[in-house]
Amino acid sequence: MKMVVAYIRHEAFESIRQDLLDAGYPSLSITEVKGSGRQKGITEHYRGSEIAIHLRPKLKIECVVDDASVSTITDTILKHGRTGSVGDGKIFILPVEEAIRIRTGEAGEEVTQSHGSEEITAGG
Ligand SMILES: Nc1ncnc2c1ncn2[C@@H]1O[C@H](COP(=O)(O)OP(=O)(O)OP(=O)(O)O)[C@@H](O)[C@H]1O
Ligand SMILES: [Mg+2]
Repeated sequence: MKMVVAYIRHEAFESIRQDLLDAGYPSLSITEVKGSGRQKGITEHYRGSEIAIHLRPKLKIECVVDDASVSTITDTILKHGRTGSVGDGKIFILPVEEAIRIRTGEAGEEVTQSHGSEEITAGG
């Protein structure tokens, strides 16, 4: 299993979410973050303290999938996330040792996304 972590522009998220949902990957988390890339943060001194400015708001996506699905996730992020301008973001892929669905206690890569026939209509 792998966790795909991506820092993207907010505008890219809805298309990514919709495509992943359609492809059978409904499960992900997002966080609003601030970051800097190669342009770096610019530091200024204010009343004796150094403060970083030019931190840009980004969305962080976390999506855990089986190894075979990683390229589907990254291709979808690349498809919708690339404008060609600096600041499009970055994708990282991390190893994941285990996944456990709390409701049932079942474990393994099958619990990461919904590939099965089970229909869940509310609550999640
Ligand atoms: N090495 C990193 N570790 C953690 N977060 C990162 C890293 N690199 C980029 N990010 C996150 O991704 C966001 C966007 O990065 P950005 O696209 O500017 O990368 P870049 O390397 O400068 O590429 P570009 O030249 O396209 O701007 C950053 O604001 C930060 O939130
Ligand atoms: Mg940059």
